[in-house]
Formats: sequence, C-alpha cells, structure tokens
Amino acid sequence: MEKLTGLKKLKTAVFISGTGSNFRNLIKFSKIKKTPISINLVISNVLKARGLKYADQFNIKKKIFNFSNIKDTEKKILNLLKKEKINLICLAGFMKILSKNFIKKFNGKIINIHPSLLPKYKGLNTHFKAIKNKDRFAGCTVHYVTENIDSGKIIMQKKIKVAAQDNAISLAKKILKQEHKLYPAAIMRIFN
Ligand code: GRF
Repeated sequence: MEKLTGLKKLKTAVFISGTGSNFRNLIKFSKIKKTPISINLVISNVLKARGLKYADQFNIKKKIFNFSNIKDTEKKILNLLKKEKINLICLAGFMKILSKNFIKKFNGKIINIHPSLLPKYKGLNTHFKAIKNKDRFAGCTVHYVTENIDSGKIIMQKKIKVAAQDNAISLAKKILKQEHKLYPAAIMRIFN
C-alpha cells in the first residue's frame, strides 16, 4: 500500500457483525497523534450489532445491509465506499464472506483480524480448536483479505502461551486483549 504523506489520513471503513471491541479500539487508535487513519464509516450486516453503539458515541456514519442478495448488497456497498472516498477496509468480527469481485475492486486494501496463529485454524471456533488440540501457543493475526478465506498475506501476528487451566472462553478473552494491540500495530506497519 502507498506511503502516507503529510497530514492526510487514510479514510477507513470498519466492517462489523457483533460486539465491536476491535471497532472501538480502532476508533481510539484513529484519534492518537501518529495515527495514519481516520474512521469515516462502519458497515454491519447485523441491525442490532452491539458495536454499532460506538458509531453513535463517536459520531461515525453507520450503514446496515442485510446481505439477502449478496450481489446487490455489495454493489450498494461499493457505491457507498466510493462516495465516502474510503481507501482502507478493516474487517473486525465481520461474519459475512465478501465475494471475489468485491475483493478485486478493493485489492490490497482490505485487512482482517483473525483469532488464531494463521495458517492454523482458518474459519470459526479457533479458541475451541486450540484448547481441544492442547496447543501450547495460540494468538491472533492481521492479514490482507483475498478470495480464499483467512489465507491472505500475513501483516503481523501475536503469539501467547495457553495456560493449563485455560478454556475456550478464557483463551478468547486473553487473545482479544492482544488483538486490541495488534490491529493498530499492523496498520502502523503497513503505513510506515
Ligand atoms: C475477534 O476475536 C476477531 O478476531 C474475530 O471476531 C472477534 C470480534 O470481536 N474475527 P469484536 O466484535 O471486535 O469484539
């Protein structure tokens, strides 16, 4: 991705489906002095996604799409992104799979955070799988989004130790805490 020059911030859209703790954290990151991004839009496929409250709280434009017709929905989203001059998409707990066509249109400008040490445990239930397999380490990854799910180039990873007494819930909590450090760090890495 291009280097940022001067004071121009990269207009960013965050896509969410749930709690939005990463969204909230990215908003916080967008307000520090050295940040390369501004958050101008949040998109959700879930009307009642809890994370949408941060859009209200921080006065960020929000749009909800139900994705019943993926092709139509993506067309609407692409128009909106163009209108808002968005040039970075951060997926943060977004539970819909974007089409090859959509990704192509935004090639190299969509990133995602995933709660595992990719390429291990693509897809869902990553914490459960790590516990079930008695993994000694777990973690999270920020990567570029390509048409193959959770398979794009890795930008940054954070590895943590799994404690003997951890279960999927405690592990998820620990990893989420690391995610909140990793996502901003990965964005800084891309643009510096
Ligand atoms: C995070 O664990 C993220 O890695 C995964 O979904 C979860 C979203 O959490 N893709 P939140 O909505 O940001 O709190």
